[in-house]
Amino acid sequence: MLRQSRLVFSTQRVILAWRGSMSGRTVLASSRRLTNLPELRAVVSTSVKDSPFIRCLKKEPTDYTPVWLMRQAGRYQSEYREIRKKVGFLELCKTPSLAAEVTVMAVNQLNVDAGIIFADILLPLENLGLGLRFAEGDGPVLDNPIKTVADVNALPDFEPREELSYVLEAIKTVCAEFDGRTPLIGFAGAPFTLASYAIEGGGSKNYVHTKTLMYKEPQVWDTLMRKLSDITSRYLLAQVDAGASAVQIFDSWVGALSPFDYERFVLPYMKDLVGTLKGHAPVIYFGTMTNGLLSLMSQTDADVLGVDWRINLDSGWELIGKDKAIQGNLDPLVLFADKDEIERQVKEVLAKAAGRPGHVFNLGHGILPKTPVENVQYLVELVHELTKK
Ligand code: CP3
Repeated sequence: MLRQSRLVFSTQRVILAWRGSMSGRTVLASSRRLTNLPELRAVVSTSVKDSPFIRCLKKEPTDYTPVWLMRQAGRYQSEYREIRKKVGFLELCKTPSLAAEVTVMAVNQLNVDAGIIFADILLPLENLGLGLRFAEGDGPVLDNPIKTVADVNALPDFEPREELSYVLEAIKTVCAEFDGRTPLIGFAGAPFTLASYAIEGGGSKNYVHTKTLMYKEPQVWDTLMRKLSDITSRYLLAQVDAGASAVQIFDSWVGALSPFDYERFVLPYMKDLVGTLKGHAPVIYFGTMTNGLLSLMSQTDADVLGVDWRINLDSGWELIGKDKAIQGNLDPLVLFADKDEIERQVKEVLAKAAGRPGHVFNLGHGILPKTPVENVQYLVELVHELTKK
């Protein structure tokens, strides 16, 4: 079974790598010399540690700016939609061979410099008994959200290494397939963003219940945040043990907080969490709408901060501090524009990065469902071409 899927993956890689460079010839101006970067990478990188992506996270110089994209596996790909016709989203996450397949497929299709394991930040909430489901068109729903102090105290203990072993299996399968050529990113939700789903029962606009608990029951908030930090720490360490070369902590909705609240209600837990990961793998800490929070977020020991497009990359880097690496920050909507506009905007982000070591190119948030695949491929190729030394 494994041999069979390996064979399929390898054949796919050859075909897709070839297709990628062919389409590149048509989309890029013919005066630009194209290098076959996947082949180059295979020769140059003796191990994942020497890959441009991992070197970049550590602010070491690289031969070109590495790029990967949040939600690089998803509904904008017809191959993904085909798989989703047969299995539900949760089932896909829980079937290691399929989760591995869509992870690898995205890397091959886009020629990005890192994979991200296909899973979801909300999976651990199911193990906490909150009743996770993904309703078509409605996004995630938690049927038993946290409502009372008793609910927080009743949250079960669980061991991510065992109960989320399907994610770890998928990581092992992808790493075997990548065979040291491409780094794989593990990930988890940050305690605040997880707490917001656990309390609101889904996505939210104003975080009324979350903030009310935070303000009125600081002890209960503390218990909840400690619990979520502890689970997240053990989950991420298990992902690193399974083969992930770096981890990203998604604090997607932390921008809903004032700096005053972030400092009191989130930062201490984030410091603890990142501290437990130090020395195990580089940590990327990502949030959106964080302009007012970046200098505080950088007080965690994260190696890299991910920023969205609402701030210029150089201003963001200034706030974060030049000792850290930065990831971002093209508006995902730019991928709906024509190629000239995409090129203009990519050049703008690169100009703000000014060729400093430690810039990982990414979007400021995930790829949206209707994004044209060829524009995503074009973006990756452009970043490589424009930054090649
Ligand atoms: O390629 C990758 O980036 C890896 C896979 C990944 C998914 N979710 C797959 C997914 C990652 C890293 C996530 C993280 C995630 N999940 C976040 C943080 C990033 C962000 O977007 O801010 C959040 C907030 C979630 C929670 C979540 N999961 C939401 C809000 C939704 C519904 C949104 C939507 O687009 O419908 C999901 C579902 C989800 N997670 C999908 C995918 C590919 C779509 C599921 C489908 O219908 O196939």
